[in-house]
Amino acid sequence: MTHDNKREGFSSSFGVLVATLGSAVGLGNIWKFPALTGANGGASFLAVYLLATLAVGLPVMIAEIALGRSARANAVSTFERLASGGGGFWQIIGWMSFASALLIMAFYSEVAGWVYAYVFKAASGALASTSPEVASRTFGALVTDPVQSLIWQWVVLAICGTIIAMGVTRGIEAVTRKLMPLLFILLIVLCIRSLTLPGAIDGLVFLFKPDFSLITPDVVLVALGLAFFKLSIGMGCMLTYGSYFRADQNIPSTALRVMLADLSVSLLAGIAIFPAVFAFGFEPAAGPSLVFMTIPAVFTSMPGGTLFMTLFFVLTAVASVGAILSLLEVPMAIFSERLGVSRRQTAVALVLSIALVGAPAALSNSSMAAFKPFGMTVFDLYDFVTSNLLLPLGGILICLFVAWNWGLPRLLAQISNDGALPNAIIARAVFRLVQWVAPVLIAIVLLHGLKVF
Ligand code: TRP
Repeated sequence: MTHDNKREGFSSSFGVLVATLGSAVGLGNIWKFPALTGANGGASFLAVYLLATLAVGLPVMIAEIALGRSARANAVSTFERLASGGGGFWQIIGWMSFASALLIMAFYSEVAGWVYAYVFKAASGALASTSPEVASRTFGALVTDPVQSLIWQWVVLAICGTIIAMGVTRGIEAVTRKLMPLLFILLIVLCIRSLTLPGAIDGLVFLFKPDFSLITPDVVLVALGLAFFKLSIGMGCMLTYGSYFRADQNIPSTALRVMLADLSVSLLAGIAIFPAVFAFGFEPAAGPSLVFMTIPAVFTSMPGGTLFMTLFFVLTAVASVGAILSLLEVPMAIFSERLGVSRRQTAVALVLSIALVGAPAALSNSSMAAFKPFGMTVFDLYDFVTSNLLLPLGGILICLFVAWNWGLPRLLAQISNDGALPNAIIARAVFRLVQWVAPVLIAIVLLHGLKVF
């Protein structure tokens, strides 16, 4: 295997931050977060999600980045290099990461495809109707059309595959540097529009005034799954990005800033969506269709609707790019580094594989709607298997590896940049959390999700 000196990395501290934030921010903030918050009780769900992010999400994220930067390698080779007593067993984390990346991409690229399609529909006025029936018919017409579904997924794969082939610095860093500021500007414009609607206050109450009686074990499961999905952890994504971190980067402070900025994007998305939903009398609990059915109707009901609706979908499309790049980079790093294949060839192979694995997800509302393994469509199955099984399982294994194989001294050395930063207390806290708290919590939630109890 070729060694480090010509390995690419992020070129500046700001580059590290935007690329990592680009991975965290995505459809998770705009499609999953509002839908899950809406369906699981609003503010009380938000409280559980915050707790899961602080107790489990942040420490696992810090540990992953530290592992990657220590090994300066992809998700498989990292364990090969760092494991004492041979990395044979621990490499399985890397191969699980590869599987998760493909499966997440298979449905994520489909949702991103709908978003791209909706940018054009919104701009052309095709979504201008306040009737929920019309909105659901328009969405239905898109997802039940096999040709359109496949083509939009391929458009997303072609665009993101081209960027990822250009490399870590000239591809990922250069693109996220331009897109992340744009995303914040669009989001703030939308929030101002939503908050200045009459009746906006009900949406804010829903989002921020908790009713703790609504918290059930299922709610906790969903919140933890979202915390993993949001911070891109549990599948070597943060580990791979960590391997591109600068040597002088403060890992915990970067992770904290990414987590806070990501949370702000989710909250801003919630503030852009829920006040408008309440102001026009729509249902907050509309689920995954919230973004595609409720939102167009809501925007049509307001002055300047076509413009703001188009901005909303552009924003969502922009957000999806950084996340997709980070998903693609996991297998990209594994194969280009381990097999010595060029990034361009690996990108072609990856895009083709995802198109293949993704086709049943893209067709799960049309040609393959009747095919329901385990009672779910292929689309839902991919989402369930990754969010509720592979990511938590990967998270537990990463925690166990750090706590019981890698050990505190090495974690401490990474987190404090070999003693240059006063981060010893943080390193100890992260270590305790990944040693006991995170694995136990994840295991309970995982077993509950599997209906073991
Ligand atoms: N965090 C992204 C989002 O919220 C999705 C994502 C990117 C992801 N990379 C990941 C999810 C790795 C799980 C694992 O949209």
